[in-house]
Amino acid sequence: MGWSERQIAMLREIGVRVWARPEEAPIALPVAFEASVAPTRSDAAASPASGLDWPALRVAVAACTACKLCETRRQTVFGVGNARAHWMIVGEAPGEQEDRQGEPFVGKSGQLLDNMLRAVSLTRGEAEPGRQAYIANTLKCRPPGNRNPLPEELAKCEAFLIRQVELVQPKIILAMGAFAVQSLLRSTEPVGKLRGRVHRYQGVPLIVTYHPAYLLRNLVDKAKAWDDLCLAAETLRESSR
Ligand code: URA
Repeated sequence: MGWSERQIAMLREIGVRVWARPEEAPIALPVAFEASVAPTRSDAAASPASGLDWPALRVAVAACTACKLCETRRQTVFGVGNARAHWMIVGEAPGEQEDRQGEPFVGKSGQLLDNMLRAVSLTRGEAEPGRQAYIANTLKCRPPGNRNPLPEELAKCEAFLIRQVELVQPKIILAMGAFAVQSLLRSTEPVGKLRGRVHRYQGVPLIVTYHPAYLLRNLVDKAKAWDDLCLAAETLRESSR
């Protein structure tokens, strides 16, 4: 099955180059690309990434030219972890190291994040889904000089994150920092005001916490981030009962 007309129109609208038939594309596309893009829901047209499976979504992200960040990125940074992980961690945007390596949270913030995950027996590596975290960012491209994401960049990239959440179907989401909160909860309230309680995103419990980069600059708040991780673990335990 190929792309639906509406999917092609919407992907083109956000700047993704698509071809109705793979043989028309100037580069060879993965076989799964064409075979996998049937909408899975009747309202699939609500988002340009609707109905895409993992390979097709990865290709759509890599080909995205919806905003100017495509001009300065080395590569897109898609996400990492088990596609059925129980935990989903959402950060802000790739930094320099992530832009070089193509994986989220591989710089200093990433080392702290990995330590935090390890403290609650989680990993981005191989493990059973209950001990795995899928890690993604609100933006898939690095803003130049690591500046803050712009509202229009967040808006253009949002469809990809929405689809990642739909595909992972996490049991708990950890939103790290103001931009993850803005994207997922549509809130501009400070992280400090939103943490400490359970929110919902697409029906999934969501806990707000500080971004690791913030924690590196504000060591005293690490204790609060630990409380947030414990709240997330407890929320997951409760919802699995
Ligand atoms: N900060 C983020 O929010 N995401 C990354 O991938 C790296 C740093």
